[in-house]
Amino acid sequence: KKIRLRIPATVANLVCGFDILGMAVHAPYDEMELRIWDSPEIMIHHEDLFGLPEEPSKNVAGIVLLKIQEHFNLSHGFEVIIRKHIKPGSGLGSSAASAAGAAFGANALLGNILSADEMIHFAMFGEELASGVRHADNIAPCIYGGITLVKSTHPLDIIPLNTPELFVAAVHPQVEVKTSDSRQILKKNISLKSAVEQWGNIAGLIAGIQKNDFSLIGRSLNDVIIEPVRSILIPKFDEIKMKSIEIGALGGGISGSGPSIFMLVEKKETAEEIAGMMKSVYDDTKIESLVYVSKIN
Ligand code: HSE
Repeated sequence: KKIRLRIPATVANLVCGFDILGMAVHAPYDEMELRIWDSPEIMIHHEDLFGLPEEPSKNVAGIVLLKIQEHFNLSHGFEVIIRKHIKPGSGLGSSAASAAGAAFGANALLGNILSADEMIHFAMFGEELASGVRHADNIAPCIYGGITLVKSTHPLDIIPLNTPELFVAAVHPQVEVKTSDSRQILKKNISLKSAVEQWGNIAGLIAGIQKNDFSLIGRSLNDVIIEPVRSILIPKFDEIKMKSIEIGALGGGISGSGPSIFMLVEKKETAEEIAGMMKSVYDDTKIESLVYVSKIN
């Protein structure tokens, strides 16, 4: 028995919802093949060029399968082939894709013994291995699709939201930003004034998403807490954001912990124009970049 998966990239935070909001997109995506193995070993093969560790306890998919194997006392193992297209360290949920893919694939091979939230629970061990934090804002949309709210991770309380018909333009400049580093630089305390502004934005964004109110979504895509600190690590961030909005994006910001930048856009042609602008801004500064135009998935 074998299962083949396409696992979507995800944009965590959605600007103002640090660690609680996330959305899945059509592109890029990873491919994964899993099958049950007679012996108890877990075999991971990476058919990509990212040089990720293949030892199960050090591999994001491997650790998830080890936890599932241990939890259910399985006498058999799994063989996994991974073809990653979502670059590790892009801020597009690369580790979450491996972790969620492993949990989803194992569940299907074992006859759907896990609920969506249980898959998320196991996949979070992969995120912990990758970044030291058991955050679920990439994993939840990867498993549920669309946009999700992680109301709490302990206990796990995930709310799948509406999926507005919006396009996403994203750029991944080839500069390295580690999630662990970009979490460390964040302020540990915030002022009441910033908190009030931020929860206004989050509430507005969720109301906009649920009501398909694109203008409200645009007005709410502001982050007064995380973006001002993290954007310093991303070359050309302010220019790209300003030009995207001039061209017609509703709004956007850092994808996850960066360095990718994403914009939500009503029309495909506008998203394509924004992607072209993003590419040319980085070309002009001799920074290589990858651009993606997709839809919320
Ligand atoms: N919410 C996490 C962060 C996502 O912003 O650090 C990391 O991909």
